[in-house]
Amino acid sequence: MRLAVNIDHIATLRNARNEFEPDPVAAALLAEKSGAAGIVCHLREDRRHIRDNDLQRLRQAVTTKLDLEMAMTQEMQHIALQTKPELITLVPEKREELTTEGGFNITTHYHTLVEFLKPFKAAGIESSIFIEPDQKAIDLTAKAGADIVELHTGSYALKTNDEERALELQRIHEAATYAKSIGLKVVAGHGLNYLNIAPFTAISEIEEVSIGHAIIARAVLTGLDKAIRELLRIIQ
Ligand code: PXP
Repeated sequence: MRLAVNIDHIATLRNARNEFEPDPVAAALLAEKSGAAGIVCHLREDRRHIRDNDLQRLRQAVTTKLDLEMAMTQEMQHIALQTKPELITLVPEKREELTTEGGFNITTHYHTLVEFLKPFKAAGIESSIFIEPDQKAIDLTAKAGADIVELHTGSYALKTNDEERALELQRIHEAATYAKSIGLKVVAGHGLNYLNIAPFTAISEIEEVSIGHAIIARAVLTGLDKAIRELLRIIQ
């Protein structure tokens, strides 16, 4: 199973001071060096983490695979076609949400989606749709011409009851098996972390997981000791 690392929250931290550190591009290069198969970033309408200039620099620096998460808007389509990431992932986007809530509503937006994807296909940019693990949504993803389905694992991650979590995992497994059987590549993400990821390694249909928050949160704590010692060496 491959790991794609979402570096949005490096930018969130950088933006807290509105200066230069930490640099999401430096984080992307480190992630690649550590074995990430791809770098994911979400250019939001409000630019709350990654900004346009970050995206351009990421495009120049990333050598594995750049996955641009975005809403289905004309502005994002224009930016993506100019930037040419290897992959776009369409997500629903609400200004007031803290993170992407729920999958893309493919039933409502199907006809717009079909037209939206055409220029990407023509430009050789792969497309992925972030949806709930639901057979109808998977059918429409394939029918719309997308290459990849990203199964939303948020409900699984939020379950605190073992039985309910197992049922959710089963739903994801069945969705992955079905999606692969109709020719889609299958990836998964949202809310996955060091404690809940293990069962996914048994789902061979899922080629890749996309993880951001848990890795950046872990990195802050595991790196703090080294950062403090380095500073103490300077001042003592
Ligand atoms: N996949 C998609 C489509 C997302 O929108 C996100 C969150 O940006 C992720 C994966 C990663 O989620 P998390 O930060 O919870 O690992």
